[in-house]
Amino acid sequence: MDKIIIEGGRRLCGEVQISGAKNAALPIMCSALLTEGWNTYHNIPDLVDIRTIKKLLGSFGVAIEGEGPIRVNAANLTRCEASYDLVKTMRASILVLGPLVARMGMARVSLPGGCAIGARPVNLHIKALQDMGAEVELKEGYVEARAKRLKGANIYFDLSTVTGTENIMMAACLAEGTTVLGNAAKEPEVVNLADVLNGMGAKISGAGTDVITIKGVDRLSPVEATVIPDRIEAGTFMIAAGMTGGDVILKGCNPQHLEALINKLKDAGMDMLFVEEGLRAVGSGKIRSVDVKTLPYPGFATDLQAQMMALMAMGNGLSVITETVFENRFMHVSELMRMGADIVVQGHRAIVKGIPKLRGAPVMATDLRASASLILAALAAEGRTELSRVYHIDRGYQGIEKKLSALGADIQRVRA
Ligand code: UD1
Repeated sequence: MDKIIIEGGRRLCGEVQISGAKNAALPIMCSALLTEGWNTYHNIPDLVDIRTIKKLLGSFGVAIEGEGPIRVNAANLTRCEASYDLVKTMRASILVLGPLVARMGMARVSLPGGCAIGARPVNLHIKALQDMGAEVELKEGYVEARAKRLKGANIYFDLSTVTGTENIMMAACLAEGTTVLGNAAKEPEVVNLADVLNGMGAKISGAGTDVITIKGVDRLSPVEATVIPDRIEAGTFMIAAGMTGGDVILKGCNPQHLEALINKLKDAGMDMLFVEEGLRAVGSGKIRSVDVKTLPYPGFATDLQAQMMALMAMGNGLSVITETVFENRFMHVSELMRMGADIVVQGHRAIVKGIPKLRGAPVMATDLRASASLILAALAAEGRTELSRVYHIDRGYQGIEKKLSALGADIQRVRA
């Protein structure tokens, strides 16, 4: 298995191009299931998760061409079953459920099962489809949903769910009548998807607020669309600048999507400057400890919690990091502690006592964002860090070692 080896202590300076958002690209590619004909998507990142969704769509008979832009045509669907083999590697595969039921009248999708960052059930997706008249059965580890035509309904999500909102928004586009989603997720990726669907002829209003209204239509047409920049990748590079006392311009990022992080990083002593290319993040070399609580958007993103904890591990005092979105998202703590970090976990909170310098160590990635936090810690640490299980990072960061090297990091991948 590949390893990433980092000699820490280099200041990161220069410009980095932010790639398209994984979490926007995945639902957008699934939305092609709702129509016949060639859709064209720009700014799809080159990631393992994107290859997984291509494989999954391909297994239904969807034709996919090109690298950038990517063209997707779901005119000839031959199968409506998402097998366990593909779903288990990527939970977001559940995003095919809504579009398949809406277009084909049935879908069979493996349950994603347990996940390293908590139970992560899909009960809210299922309940919403039932509210729209689908018959749903759980059989042999699969969700099987059937509906001749889904019916518009008033749906309220007990918890703000990003893929749940996206799944049902897609399904409701082809339903009979109007669907209203209450307590809908407000993430920019939801808005990007709604814009794409409206470009296909859907009638969606309110995306970006917690009430989304979808008037069903009889058919949708193919579209040409662009994926928004990845706010989590941008945020990770901003924190990298802070950890190394660096000066990094994030080209093409959308600062409006990163307000909660930008404000926290300013509180932590960084300068964040709006520039023509995007955003300039400047670290002062001194990190002030701040408290952080993850929340659905526009709150502080749970996908940036691990990276922020790496920064706080080098803060000048105590920081309390509270995780409210997922129940078990502190697996990076024990690995950060191997690098000298002083962290105590109490339930949903991690108490981080900053130390002046982390030390390089052999560490292991446990999930996508945890691996990003370990890379950040390694960049700032004294000495050498060897990160194993790097396949996690390849799920969500395009060419991370190339981008970091170009900024001056001493980082290399050793292929096994
Ligand atoms: C999406 C993102 C992921 C991010 C997360 C939270 C994608 C592909 N992934 O994941 O990177 O970390 O949002 O911002 O966009 N829940 C239920 N029942 C459900 C659905 C969710 O209880 O049916 C719970 C989850 O366990 C979790 C919370 O709701 O505690 C939020 O999860 P959700 O927003 O659904 O996360 P994902 O959409 O899977």
